[in-house]
Amino acid sequence: MKLLVTGGAGFIGSAVVRQAVAAGHHVVNLDALTYAACLENVAPVSDDPNYTFVEVDIRDRAALDATLNTHQPDAIMHLAAESHVDRSIDGPGTFIDTNVMGTFHLLEATRSYWEQAGRPADFRFHHISTDEVFGSLGPTGMFTEDTPYDPRSPYSASKASSDHLVRAWCETYGLPVILTNCSNNYGPYHFPEKLIPVIILNALAGKALPIYGDGSNVRDWLYVEDHADALLLVVQKGEVGRSYNIGGENERSNLELVNTLCAILDEVRPKTTGSYSDQITFVTDRPGHDARYAIDPTRIRTELGWSPSVTVEDGLRRTVHWYLENEAWWRALQDRSGVGQRLGTGT
Ligand SMILES: NC(=O)c1ccc[n+]([C@@H]2O[C@H](COP(=O)([O-])OP(=O)(O)OC[C@H]3O[C@@H](n4cnc5c(N)ncnc54)[C@H](O)[C@@H]3O)[C@@H](O)[C@H]2O)c1
Repeated sequence: MKLLVTGGAGFIGSAVVRQAVAAGHHVVNLDALTYAACLENVAPVSDDPNYTFVEVDIRDRAALDATLNTHQPDAIMHLAAESHVDRSIDGPGTFIDTNVMGTFHLLEATRSYWEQAGRPADFRFHHISTDEVFGSLGPTGMFTEDTPYDPRSPYSASKASSDHLVRAWCETYGLPVILTNCSNNYGPYHFPEKLIPVIILNALAGKALPIYGDGSNVRDWLYVEDHADALLLVVQKGEVGRSYNIGGENERSNLELVNTLCAILDEVRPKTTGSYSDQITFVTDRPGHDARYAIDPTRIRTELGWSPSVTVEDGLRRTVHWYLENEAWWRALQDRSGVGQRLGTGT
């Protein structure tokens, strides 16, 4: 298949690109190279003849048209987005520009390309979204594909908006779309402003391990390679017009997660005295911090036969080892704007 992957220099997009090329697909990686991008993430495949990179912004309609006409993809996997909730609190405008308007321009460029090609039924526009569009759960219950949307942060509202646009382009114009809504990812190449890399890197630097509020917020963690695997399955086997929830079935409170990371670090890189957990520091909570997310993955499991292959304990261990072995990668990113600072306090 010839896949056009947007956001392929980011965390999840690069995992998709690496796996897709390894599986023999032709991949065009379209990315604007924002602060969150790193072409090192795709270095393992960058010399492969099946791989092409184009530096294009999804808000640039003319550049999208040119890219689609030149490369003629069979499917588009749309991951390009502003993705950090804390940054969306400080600067929501960029999230509306990229996640809403960028998706609109990409849908319009895709529609034009697809119509000129004679509306092929086997074309796919796969929109990659988040479980955060469903809002916040109490102590019980899970998000299904039928859970009503209830986004509560500028980030999740912008993703919810883009999901609605994608569905509308399917209903109104017949564009063959598929959507996926996934839980929190973690693993190699995770940008060092997100919780898990922040904890690993602050622990190693002897700094405070910041936990928002009381650490009771629960997330369902999925190893990024498992997510990429699910996405490549959905783009090939998913049913047009349908959405699939993807989750790790690995619910952990933030405090449990951080304590697990500290225990792994205590074992593999022990401190001279004490435990890394001594560095845990509770900080002011994020405004509107969703209490709990949990995914019911029944549809993707029963209809497409997918389930996660990596347990959270194994995945966290692999992730810690990856950061220990790839210091040059994360050190270079720590100089980027805003990284290492407390963002999104709402003040
Ligand atoms: N990280 C998660 O846990 C998670 C969970 C579920 C869904 N998602 C979704 O998956 C997608 C990828 O997330 P991620 O964590 O890899 O994000 P990321 O921030 O690591 O990467 C985003 C990529 O998109 C690119 N990009 C941003 N704006 C662009 C623009 N205007 N034009 C072209 N490229 C642009 C960036 O340069 C970057 O390479 C996002 O759509 C996100 O909403 C993420």
